[in-house]
Amino acid sequence: MMINFDEMIERRGTGSIKYDFAVEKGLPEDVLPLWVADMDFRTPACVSEALIERAKHGIFGYSELGPEYFEAIENWFKNTTGWQVKRNWLIKMPGIVFAVATIIRALTEEGDGILIQEPVYYPFAECIETNGRKRIVNELLFDGARYTIDFEDFEDKIINNKVKLFILCNPHNPIGRVWTETELIKMGEICQKHGVLVLSDEIHQDFIYPGHKHFVFAALKPEFEEISITCTSPSKTFNLAGLQISNIFAPTQELRHRIKAELWRMGVDESNIMGQIACEAAYRGGAEWLSELKDYLLGNLAYIRDFLKEHLPQVSLVEPEGTYLVWIDFRKLGLSDENLEDLMINKARLWLDAGTMFGKGGSGFERFNIACPRATLEKAMSQLESAILALQ
Ligand SMILES: Cc1ncc(COP(=O)(O)O)c(C=O)c1O
Repeated sequence: MMINFDEMIERRGTGSIKYDFAVEKGLPEDVLPLWVADMDFRTPACVSEALIERAKHGIFGYSELGPEYFEAIENWFKNTTGWQVKRNWLIKMPGIVFAVATIIRALTEEGDGILIQEPVYYPFAECIETNGRKRIVNELLFDGARYTIDFEDFEDKIINNKVKLFILCNPHNPIGRVWTETELIKMGEICQKHGVLVLSDEIHQDFIYPGHKHFVFAALKPEFEEISITCTSPSKTFNLAGLQISNIFAPTQELRHRIKAELWRMGVDESNIMGQIACEAAYRGGAEWLSELKDYLLGNLAYIRDFLKEHLPQVSLVEPEGTYLVWIDFRKLGLSDENLEDLMINKARLWLDAGTMFGKGGSGFERFNIACPRATLEKAMSQLESAILALQ
């Protein structure tokens, strides 16, 4: 390994949402944060160097990168997933949550049904509801080990609620599924049959564990290109969330125009130059760093898996197929959701995302972010073990 992912980097005092706001959010000062999905690792050197170079210039007027920005993105998707994107499909936005809200406003009307698959990344529900649309839930099925899709319910929910848009989380946060080609085609064909547009959030596409493969929804069938918008970003992959850059692809002219018109209504035009510089540098030079990072994350995953088996067999890891977020099942402890939260925060001193935040099916679960040095995970697991043993 060339990169030392074991290095403990102090993030307190940097304005980090993960580290600097516990007390403000009513939590004890010493909670160990493993919640929000950013990483405790430095971005690749090629990214910092590009940012420093640009910062040295010292002028930050209205800026826009040209064809070289698109080329870097185009090559990244070609090399990672085989997807061929076109330059005129691209709409840059400050982030994917921003994109989700914008697309909802651009492509649906107040009162329309929007389908999501809970438990799922909670800002989807927030964007739907704060924009006055109806949240329609196709709850994922869980057999105690793996999540699958209830396709019958998926189609019924679409028919019975006049659903206009489906927000697909591909790969799926927090349950870690990397949807298969068959599953995606089945969902896509149902959407196509009932005139439902698909927003495919593929922000986690670069974190796929061995034995699984990411399929870009839009690339599966030419018909899916016609009904979908794909939301991508280098922010999870290269730890750039604070730079606010995402790349949204809308292959059809009509959808693209409606989305651009909505952006214009909101007064959004250019995107942050530093975000664009970081994105281009990461996609050009970050592949090797990412490969090392993925090896390190596999080690973290193995550590958690083994620790739970050996020390806390009543707690089980839902084996992730992708993402650096792991979904842990605490239901055998028999605690209410309030007591589980109390256990995590006040006894184990861990700041996690409670399963209930992710909607239906989240009760009794917690989401852990494993993108941190091994020593942080060891500390977290040891605090968790002491807190659970003290319950008995
Ligand atoms: C599925 C998913 N979409 C979007 C985001 C956030 O994207 P952004 O920071 O670009 O708004 C996250 C972050 O955790 C996520 O997990």
